[in-house]
Amino acid sequence: MFDFKKFKKKNRLEQEYNIVVATKPNSAYAESFRKIPIDLKYSSVDNEPRVIQITSSVAGEHKTTTATNLAAVYVELGKKVILVDCDLRKPKIHRAVEILNDDGLSSFLIDKVDKSQLIKKTKYNFDVINAGEVVPFPHVVLRSEKFQKLIKELRDMYDYVILDCPPVLLVTDSLIISEVVDKTLFVINQQLTSKSETKEAITLLREANADLAGIILSNVSRKVSNYGYRYGYRYKYRYYSRKE
Ligand SMILES: Nc1ncnc2c1ncn2[C@@H]1O[C@H](COP(=O)(O)OP(=O)(O)OP(=O)(O)O)[C@@H](O)[C@H]1O
Ligand SMILES: [Mg+2]
Repeated sequence: MFDFKKFKKKNRLEQEYNIVVATKPNSAYAESFRKIPIDLKYSSVDNEPRVIQITSSVAGEHKTTTATNLAAVYVELGKKVILVDCDLRKPKIHRAVEILNDDGLSSFLIDKVDKSQLIKKTKYNFDVINAGEVVPFPHVVLRSEKFQKLIKELRDMYDYVILDCPPVLLVTDSLIISEVVDKTLFVINQQLTSKSETKEAITLLREANADLAGIILSNVSRKVSNYGYRYGYRYKYRYYSRKE
């Protein structure tokens, strides 16, 4: 299996995030992200999902890693992409793309920042809206009409809009955000998250009528991965019917 720690050491990576699709495009790790757009495309036959939410049950399941690399994969495919940090409580996208976390989404939603200041260019050729300042009730601003309108506008401006979201079991934010997206991608850190946590989170998403595209297994160990997958990520798509 892909050894992330060894990879980091070998490549002398000081930063916490490495957008491997852009920085190490030929690595097996990067390759493991390239299947997501294909599966996403076929998850909805008539309308390809273009506004995509990334979430998980608990913290540290590699949501941000998945979101940044998925954005980079769409850039590789020649698409116009924006990545929005909707994790207003533990924002990380600004760190991943090495920009400051100022003039961000939360500041815009509480009318402190103008829309013209919101969108930042990055060296990865996708645009970013960073999370911005800490606000007392993120779920309130995320439920606002202003947020819904912003996502609609981004849909018209970009081919793909990727939303990095907080974990479902900790806060309700992701359930609220699921209402404005085309599809939800659910990340499971196979070595961290229990089955019961995963089940509970998926139940909550279903109750909120989230449209689940499938699950992404991260941190897959060699032991559990005996189907020939040798990377740190494995994608397993499963379609969730409402009755299931
Ligand atoms: N394949 C991997 N194997 C091991 N560690 C990884 C891997 N990919 C990313 N990491 C590291 O794991 C940590 C958590 O990843 P990440 O921030 O993407 O998770 P997250 O689900 O967004 O977390 P949070 O819920 O805190 O926002 C980061 O420090 C990241 O560098
Ligand atoms: Mg994160």
